[in-house]
Amino acid sequence: MVLFTKFERKDYTIFVELRDKTMNREKAIEKIKALTSNLNRHNYLYYVKAMPEIPDQEFDMLLKELEKLEKEYDFRLPDSPTFRVGGDLTKDFETRKHGTPMLSLGNTYSEGELIDFLKRVEKNISTTPEFVCELKYDGVAISLTYENGILDHALTRGDGIQGDDVTMNVKTIKSIPLRLQGNFPESFEIRGEIIMPHSSFNRLNEERTTQGLQLFANPRNAAAGSLKMQDSAEVAKRGLDCFLYFVQGENLPGDNHYDNLRAAATWGFNVPNTISRCKTIEEIMEFINLWDQGRHELEYDIDGVVIKVNDYQQQKLLGFTAKTPRWAIAYKFKAEQVSTILDSVSFQVGRTGSITPVANLKPVLLAGTTVKRASLHNMDFIESFNLHLSDRVFVEKGGEIIPKIVGVDTATRKDNAERVTFPELCPECKTPLTRKEGEANHYCPNEEGCPPQIKGKLEHFISRKAMNIESLGEGKIEMLFDSGLVRNAADLYDLTFDKLNGLEKTIIHDGKEPRKVSLREKSANAILESLEKSRKVPFARVLYALGIRYVGETVARKLAVHYKTMDALKMATIMELILVDEIGERIAESVTDWFSNAEHLEIIERLKNHGIQMELLSEESSEEENILEGKTFVVSGVFTHFSRDEIKEAIIKFGGKSAGSISGNTDFVVAGEKMGPSKFEKANKLGIPIISEGEFLEMIRKTED
Ligand code: IVH
Repeated sequence: MVLFTKFERKDYTIFVELRDKTMNREKAIEKIKALTSNLNRHNYLYYVKAMPEIPDQEFDMLLKELEKLEKEYDFRLPDSPTFRVGGDLTKDFETRKHGTPMLSLGNTYSEGELIDFLKRVEKNISTTPEFVCELKYDGVAISLTYENGILDHALTRGDGIQGDDVTMNVKTIKSIPLRLQGNFPESFEIRGEIIMPHSSFNRLNEERTTQGLQLFANPRNAAAGSLKMQDSAEVAKRGLDCFLYFVQGENLPGDNHYDNLRAAATWGFNVPNTISRCKTIEEIMEFINLWDQGRHELEYDIDGVVIKVNDYQQQKLLGFTAKTPRWAIAYKFKAEQVSTILDSVSFQVGRTGSITPVANLKPVLLAGTTVKRASLHNMDFIESFNLHLSDRVFVEKGGEIIPKIVGVDTATRKDNAERVTFPELCPECKTPLTRKEGEANHYCPNEEGCPPQIKGKLEHFISRKAMNIESLGEGKIEMLFDSGLVRNAADLYDLTFDKLNGLEKTIIHDGKEPRKVSLREKSANAILESLEKSRKVPFARVLYALGIRYVGETVARKLAVHYKTMDALKMATIMELILVDEIGERIAESVTDWFSNAEHLEIIERLKNHGIQMELLSEESSEEENILEGKTFVVSGVFTHFSRDEIKEAIIKFGGKSAGSISGNTDFVVAGEKMGPSKFEKANKLGIPIISEGEFLEMIRKTED
């Protein structure tokens, strides 16, 4: 017997099957297929077309039914809409090579620069170019690969050569089709931008406020953070969206960008209908001005306009530089400015003791968000504006998170206005501040006794790139500090289950009742487990985790490779240190200063006794030399400073591979003068970056600090 529940609508009636005792596997699979296809269609109508045909409850009921059948019969199609709700956990995202490198775009900021771009394009092609103008969506780049109409994998940009496989998370984004419709090519890649609409962003930050979690600074950061979450069910709740802007593959229907994007829209992709074909600079500027004005009406952030040569033949002729296509360019909108009143200035203490003055402003709306604070950087910055309290100041928001003060209206300043001065004592622990000669920042020297410095150092120690102690975060560090259990990194390793279990903290939110939270058994065990795991963290990262001023990741790696053990580094003098490649006086002095402090030496000793890595393991020592690992180069042409063989030797020395001919596996072509035209043509065809001798040298010299 089959039971149905009936929904009567004006134009139609639907029946939802409740229970079917005659259901067998074969029938169930048929049903799963039908439900999958039906739900995917409704999903597309709702999220891409914004024209739903059935009410939300009906959709949810059908989805629940599918979910139940999939579980019962252990059968799920790769495009099942149940992937949309997530649930799969990803421990570490696997990296995967891009079919062709994911490049970025050159930037322009004025009509003049844009005219130069147009001239460069025209000079290099014989036919008149047509351009496609698109919005520059401010989110996270994504590459989606479809095989036979099914989403096969989704990769982040990563370093452009390889990215993280975030397929499970991407499948939860409802506007990304899991199965295509219409007449699509068998195999192709489509790239676009994952964005977080303002409505999702505001909702997320409201939730985080009530949970006492740190807020995301902007929708871009929130989208990036969401995409890398380990729990796809959480990603599903984040309300992400995706706009597509680039198709590539063998059998695309059109011979130009615009037609293929339009075709992609018919396959089910969310291709914004804001894209427009333009021929002249006037038309392009009209598009730019339209969106410069209109961007605030959009439900998502854009930071400019992208202008692309439409025709593929012309694109091919123009080719690529090392990092960007020569056939496309971004026009970035100017940062917006508003004026507001400077109410007061607070002085924040960072983990290294540096004091950052922060302007508290009368709240003002700027580029869609309310601005209340702006960084004032240091004393020189304050003095350069001769800032006074109650001044009318001009605030700008560029690409960066924190808005900046770019000017002050002295004409409206009152005669009795109070000048902003720098404090002499630390605002947190009242220790007299110091300022080294030639340095812009003031510091609180009370490293061991100043609370924000202690907490900041601990937060740095546990951070992902340092000891990666995942189960501890800002809130738990605060808890451990307030309880008096932890004052330095070594104290973390003295923690026991009994000390952690039941630990309490009071959370106070503006205008709300204080709330007590306590640490449960599960968290206590997780903390102990991740501390245990951190004993395996390599020496270079341990060195970075110590938080020595100016010792960033790259410097830490250099020092670890050179000195090999903490004991050897401890003994190093300034003179020895500055002989190490790329270590200057400033770093050398900071390192020797740090090791001359008895308390630091004690922490090191205790960490060592707790089994933290204090020596470079043999496989790590080659890390520095292996910066080209996994990359294949083809060297062609005549060079200015080195012979071709010397360049090939350098590639091998730094862990890369040197190949004779260009293929799909080639990552870079190092080109000198007189590079063969066939090689040039092939590299362009495959979208392989062609780099100069200088760019190659930059690559092997590259530092991250
Ligand atoms: S085209 C080779 N089009 O901007 C083609 N990119 O600053 C490269 N972006 O990495 C990309 N909107 O993440 C293109 N309409 C658009 C875009 C766009 C945003 C992002 C993309 C790219 C970055 C470059």
